Amino acid sequence: MSSPGKTRLVFLGPPGAGKGTQAASIADKLGVPHVSTGDILRAAVKADSPLGREAHRYMNAGQLVPDELVNRMVAERLTQADCTNGFLLDGFPRTLVQGRALEEALNKMKTALDAVISFDVSRQELIRRLTGRRACPECGANYHVESLKPKIEGICDRCGAKLVQRADDSLETVENRLEVYQRETADLIDYYRGQNLLKKVPGDLAIEEVQRRVLEALE
Ligand code: AP5
Repeated sequence: MSSPGKTRLVFLGPPGAGKGTQAASIADKLGVPHVSTGDILRAAVKADSPLGREAHRYMNAGQLVPDELVNRMVAERLTQADCTNGFLLDGFPRTLVQGRALEEALNKMKTALDAVISFDVSRQELIRRLTGRRACPECGANYHVESLKPKIEGICDRCGAKLVQRADDSLETVENRLEVYQRETADLIDYYRGQNLLKKVPGDLAIEEVQRRVLEALE
């Protein structure tokens, strides 16, 4: 498939919708950086930086990190050289305040979003995916105990590290994250629909089929 011309993208969807899984391969195909706010925040927590110390308690409770912290973090990231020809934002924005801050940051850079992909998946499937997810603490690769097993159980195919369950993937925290998503992100979806940027993709199909649908939506 030829490379779509759209390269300033946002992947939107509830926790477990497959944003990270799809973003990793699609960013690679498009030759743009995959900018995941969840990954940046987890790296800050691991490094015990001031941002990480602040973000930690929100993330573990399944709450959103305050808008001003995340907005600043993303605005800085987007000015880095590798974002000049595009980027794929995974997990940002997720509130209307963040959406407006992103628009402002892009205006300053004299550019704008090309498209927003929104993944739809049933609640039951989201819970199955998140509670069964295993993640690599070293390289960030994601697996699933049933649907995406590593070659050797419990070991990352990419870097050989021992896989772990994310602290926010317990059933109780997952239910809270889904509630937060419904509450905080509905207005943002309407905002992008109003700007004619929103493209909905069914996220409950096989990983390869979802990827095909995303690339089709970007044509
Ligand atoms: P973040 O890491 O962004 O978490 P999330 O949005 O809750 O999304 P996930 O990473 O859980 O899910 P995903 O959609 O990427 O699914 P994945 O591909 O992994 O954020 C974590 C926390 O950081 C937040 O709770 C918040 O505290 C903070 N934060 C981050 N951004 C923020 C922001 N902008 N503002 C404020 N706070 C912020 O897939 C899940 C599982 O399903 C995997 O096991 C995968 O293998 C499997 N899977 C994927 N696709 C399929 C498929 N098609 N079929 C079967 N299985 C599949």
